[in-house]
Amino acid sequence: MKGKTAIITGGGSGFGQETAIKLAQQGVNICVVDISDENGLKTVELCEKEGAQAIFVKADVSNLDQVKNYVAKTIEAFGKIDLFFNNAGISGSGVRTLECSEDEFEAIVNVNLKGAFYGLKYVVNEMLKTGGGSVVNTASLGGVVGMPTLGVYSATKHAIVGLTKTIAGEYGRDNIRINAIAPGTNETPMVKAFPADAIAAMADAVPMGRLGQPHEVADVVVFLLSEQASYIHGAVISIDGGSAAL
Ligand SMILES: NC(=O)c1ccc[n+]([C@@H]2O[C@H](COP(=O)([O-])OP(=O)(O)OC[C@H]3O[C@@H](n4cnc5c(N)ncnc54)[C@H](O)[C@@H]3O)[C@@H](O)[C@H]2O)c1
Repeated sequence: MKGKTAIITGGGSGFGQETAIKLAQQGVNICVVDISDENGLKTVELCEKEGAQAIFVKADVSNLDQVKNYVAKTIEAFGKIDLFFNNAGISGSGVRTLECSEDEFEAIVNVNLKGAFYGLKYVVNEMLKTGGGSVVNTASLGGVVGMPTLGVYSATKHAIVGLTKTIAGEYGRDNIRINAIAPGTNETPMVKAFPADAIAAMADAVPMGRLGQPHEVADVVVFLLSEQASYIHGAVISIDGGSAAL
């Protein structure tokens, strides 16, 4: 992986940050894309601590100009893009799905679907110029099964699965591998803030009896991005303690 260049959207927290650090440990140049300066700059600092070169580009992934800008800034800094973790996403307020407001519907679709599509469109275009690359899109357990009270989120994540499979069919011969991950509920800062009994109930619903840890997701992402996964293409990999199996 040494000398390769990765873009990680939503790189300022959670799965994105964990993945950035693990890639930095392997000598990958990192472009952290995030809407939050604080989060993005923190990840850059953590990558630099690992001895990697890293830049932060502030962007809202649902804004086309800002997507074009993070692609351009990465090329300017590192000359190419080899790896893309297309990961930024938001969930929802947890109301019954048809009670979701129009504004919330639009916000979720804009970030999770439009943002992921724009990223793919402009990053893959750069990969075509340099002879290939590897992409991991972040779907969700909610992208392979329904998710009560998070129906719009679930719909956008099903869309990510559709995009992944379709684009894999279209770009495999261009030496661009495209896969998706479908993580179950993880102990991210957001989940950790829930009441203890709610966390216990969520963990109890998982066949393995516990929630995931972000590093368990990041390990799979790094593997999928690497040459070790050289014949994995168009796959949707569940990382959910068995939840999708039920
Ligand atoms: N945490 C879970 O349990 C879980 C489970 C399944 C799927 N996911 C998915 O994994 C991805 C990452 O989740 P996480 O838990 O690491 O999230 P997180 O909230 O810890 O981090 C997300 C990062 O994305 C950034 N971000 C939000 N909106 C953005 C935008 N419009 N443009 C650019 N950056 C933006 C945030 O500032 C934040 O730094 C998301 O797509 C999420 O839907 C999470």
